[in-house]
Amino acid sequence: MRQVMWDSPPEDLELDAGYIDVWRTQIDLPEDEIDSYVATLSQEEQDRAARFTFPDKYEEYVVSRGLLRKALAHVLKQPATEFQFEYTDSKKPYLPIKYANKTVSFNISHSHGQALVAISLDRNIGIDIEKIRSDVEYEKLALRFFSEAEHHELMQISADERARSFFAIWTRKEAFVKAIGKGIAFGLSEFDVNISPEEPPVMLATRWNPEDVSLWSMATIDAENNFMATLATDGGEFQLRHWQ
Ligand SMILES: CC(C)(COP(=O)(O)OP(=O)(O)OC[C@H]1O[C@@H](n2cnc3c(N)ncnc32)[C@H](O)[C@@H]1OP(=O)(O)O)[C@@H](O)C(=O)NCCC(=O)NCCS
Repeated sequence: MRQVMWDSPPEDLELDAGYIDVWRTQIDLPEDEIDSYVATLSQEEQDRAARFTFPDKYEEYVVSRGLLRKALAHVLKQPATEFQFEYTDSKKPYLPIKYANKTVSFNISHSHGQALVAISLDRNIGIDIEKIRSDVEYEKLALRFFSEAEHHELMQISADERARSFFAIWTRKEAFVKAIGKGIAFGLSEFDVNISPEEPPVMLATRWNPEDVSLWSMATIDAENNFMATLATDGGEFQLRHWQ
């Protein structure tokens, strides 16, 4: 995959339905930076943060929420503390208020010290980042969660290539179930994705209306070494912009 540039966002960056802005940060930040993120969180978010017993989980939560608020503040020109999120029954956060008659769409993902936030307008967006780990029982998990076709294909490739393909499939599937807001409960075997991490991600088939395949697009997000990340969205063509 072509390396992309993660730039600092220009002051006048605006949301545009034709673009999906992906913001990234590492979680391991100096304490004062973490505290400055905490200061932007709502009381409810701070209460939730305080319930994390492991420091790394606490930091993942406050930094990724803080990044979301900072990014929204940047593009909507409002204080980061202003945004009041609501939650669907499956716990997907969203902004109930429209901005200039448009819905601000976003999604967060964090894994092992990395956080990504995707933001656009009038779309359903899901993003997922995972660390490529070798301590995972690929075969068992693929058998349990993936479709038959994906499991079969994964078992055909060499063991060396399997980890990257496993996480390509996993992040493609999670990005989609996060875009529709259902999470894993939706059933990861309800649809097929391609398995090669080197190829652009695509939804190949669905077990519900087959024509829905054409509603969804995916993109591989250029993540740090040893991470795999995918974005899924409806709403037609888009271009990615990368900010850090
Ligand atoms: C959403 C889900 C796929 C996240 O998977 P994950 O790889 O562990 O975590 P990620 O870091 O990629 O994503 C977590 C973020 O996704 C967002 N999120 C939470 N639920 C979501 C949902 N249903 N759809 C989309 N995004 C969701 C949140 O912003 C969350 O981060 P935060 O809690 O720090 O704010 C998984 O938790 C899930 O399936 N949840 C749904 C569970 C459910 O149905 N609950 C019902 C009542 S308990």
